[in-house]
Amino acid sequence: MKLSKMLLTGAIGLVSLSLAACGGGSSSGDSSSDAGDGKQVVFKLAFNQTDQHPQYKAGAEFGKRLEEATDGRYSIKVYPNEQLGTQTDVIQNLSNGTVEMVYVGGPVMEGFNKDFAVYNLPYMFDSIEAQQQIFRDADLNSELFTSVEESKNITVLAAMFAGVRNIYNSKQPVRTPDDLTGLKIRVQQSDSQVRMIELMGAVASPMGQGDVYSALQTGVLDGAENNETVYNALKHDEVAKYYSYTRHLMIPDYLLMSTKALDAMSDADREALLALVPEIQKMADDGFQDFIKESIANSEAIGAQFNDDVDTAAFKERVQPLIEETVNANDVRKALYAAIQEANAAHPAS
Ligand code: GCU
Repeated sequence: MKLSKMLLTGAIGLVSLSLAACGGGSSSGDSSSDAGDGKQVVFKLAFNQTDQHPQYKAGAEFGKRLEEATDGRYSIKVYPNEQLGTQTDVIQNLSNGTVEMVYVGGPVMEGFNKDFAVYNLPYMFDSIEAQQQIFRDADLNSELFTSVEESKNITVLAAMFAGVRNIYNSKQPVRTPDDLTGLKIRVQQSDSQVRMIELMGAVASPMGQGDVYSALQTGVLDGAENNETVYNALKHDEVAKYYSYTRHLMIPDYLLMSTKALDAMSDADREALLALVPEIQKMADDGFQDFIKESIANSEAIGAQFNDDVDTAAFKERVQPLIEETVNANDVRKALYAAIQEANAAHPAS
């Protein structure tokens, strides 16, 4: 049975013995599978943003609740601010057992299965509710999410809301695609993101999040695209004053876990961990809207300018080729896209 099915039905328990035999990847350095030796196993959760972020807080709470639910056998420690490396580096470490959990932006998953790109396309979700409908549908995502389990040792525990992404830069407010001509804009490291920003009219510069501030400061970059919380928390508002509501992306973050580490837990402990996931996901999502409001107020206080008079229809038209070439590549993607259209019809933009 696929993991996402297990999450849905609560029917946890089918463990691949061969994987369990590979060792638990526990941070205690103990490769026994059930933490039954009195030592607590502390899973490392790598995070590339600050400890003020709702995903950090939800991760820390996950640790506390897991500790209670497993009588102290397991816990989680969150490492913020890219302490354990960039998302693309850390995800490689899920395999070698040095890190057991990580939050990654959607585009990172394209490196493992390109079908994830459907969820990273511009102007894909009309509302947060539409996106949530899609990511709470375990049947729909079962094939996609489990495609990276055995081959890549990546279990997708949850997809979380990660804001709406807009363009900001140090030169001028952006209103039309022409305003982006010649501007070097940072994007996340994936083909879909590079192609997207090129179609929108700018020059794409893919890089990890931690390098963006200094690149903006030194003029290597003219701008970037992200939600308001990153703009403020990572101080991009100090070096790129113009934040323009292009609203071009609503990309999820995924909470990932090493499949080996999960399989190495006893059935009861694994079930306890998985049972906590929906409440942790909700906690992270619920905290996001307030975090956005605070972030906007903080950025405005230091002189950042937000403009909402953007010709989003023009940007939407520009990116149509990317949507068509991505979605029409195979039947899996077509089915995901069709489900998104249904979710959009059920939850239109307000
Ligand atoms: C957001 C997102 C992260 C992502 C980052 C980025 O902050 O939540 O997962 O890494 O954007 O642009 O790199």
